[in-house]
Amino acid sequence: MYSEKVMEHFRNPRNVGEIKDADGVGEVGNPVCGDLMKITIKVENDRISDIKFQTFGCGAAIATSSMVTELAKGLTLEEALKISRQTVADALGGLPPKKMHCSNLAADGLRRAIVDYLKKNNRMDKIKELGLEKELEKMEKGELDDHGELCEGV
Ligand code: FES
Repeated sequence: MYSEKVMEHFRNPRNVGEIKDADGVGEVGNPVCGDLMKITIKVENDRISDIKFQTFGCGAAIATSSMVTELAKGLTLEEALKISRQTVADALGGLPPKKMHCSNLAADGLRRAIVDYLKKNNRMDKIKELGLEKELEKMEKGELDDHGELCEGV
């Protein structure tokens, strides 16, 4: 059912944990199935210099988060925002259709960590330029995410 690469990332996930003095923190999740994701990032010259994840998610969420952190490290903020669930699935050699949504958790968490970083640095111009105003609004309202509608908690 899962590719060898998915299993390998599941068994040996990269970049697990939390950066204590993070420049940006992003949290998303689905309270219904209990799948939660926290992404912490360090940013240097608008590039992601370090990234870690913590998740209460299924095995696919662990493998996809591990891959997202590997893909994102060293990218500019703009480049990192382009990581989609398809990018992650392709990098892992495919995911079962039922599990495609799991890869959203880390990509969405990363997006929020970037918004958090820009907000903390009073970069509203950049938030607008990157089309992240809606995400900021959701974060300010304390909305977890819309991941829940797709997540089956399996
Ligand atoms: S993240 Fe995999 S089932 Fe919700």
